[in-house]
Amino acid sequence: MIDLHAHLLPGLDDGPSDEAGALALAEHLAASGVRTIAATPHLRHDYPDVRVEELPGRVATLQETVRTRGVALEIVTGGEVDAVWAQHQSEEALRIASYGGGGTDLLVETPYGELPPVLEELLFRIRTRGFRVLLAHPERNPTFQRDPERLGRLVDGGVLVQLTAASLVAGKRSRACALGHALIAEGRAHVIAGDAHAVGGRATLADALAATDHPRARWMVTEAPAAILAGEPLPPAPSASAPRRRRWRLGSR
Ligand SMILES: [Fe+2]
Repeated sequence: MIDLHAHLLPGLDDGPSDEAGALALAEHLAASGVRTIAATPHLRHDYPDVRVEELPGRVATLQETVRTRGVALEIVTGGEVDAVWAQHQSEEALRIASYGGGGTDLLVETPYGELPPVLEELLFRIRTRGFRVLLAHPERNPTFQRDPERLGRLVDGGVLVQLTAASLVAGKRSRACALGHALIAEGRAHVIAGDAHAVGGRATLADALAATDHPRARWMVTEAPAAILAGEPLPPAPSASAPRRRRWRLGSR
């Protein structure tokens, strides 16, 4: 599986505070079935210590540590980009923040709390600079929960949606859970990611797959994120009317 959202780099944002914590998280992710992980620290004004130009070197250092410890996990560069932060960055900074430094796909954080009316304009400006936007965990936002069609219009316009695994296992009383599963059923979500910050802190991709038997879910942790890392169009997704695959269960590979 491929996980496109993780706070894995040590001592940078609200992820692991040191290398031992990062290594433990890498081991935990690999054990849960993740083979490729994007290290996506917060890139926003209240995390001034996260300097985008340093990210490739930091990823290379952690990758070497992980490899030395025998953990089978490929780490690719990325960032969880704040939509306002992005407006003030150079082309080169945004390229480095994009997945693998490829200059094609950016993970953009959904703002917390009520969404400002200007959000669509901010996303539009990022897209006109040549990036495909993967919107991080919109299902958790109260404005989108109240007005899912606002999110639907963004998706219909080409924005991709990343659901967080924890949302999908949160249970019937969770509005994030309801919206997340509805987006999968409607074909309006494209990626499931862990958004891990520490070992055991959140549900894994395996947990999320166990919470749904919709065939699109596995596509959202394999083929779709692979296409995003490659900067290519997403391949066709399986629909619920397709022949049922064996339900994925914890512990199976
Ligand atoms: Fe995050």
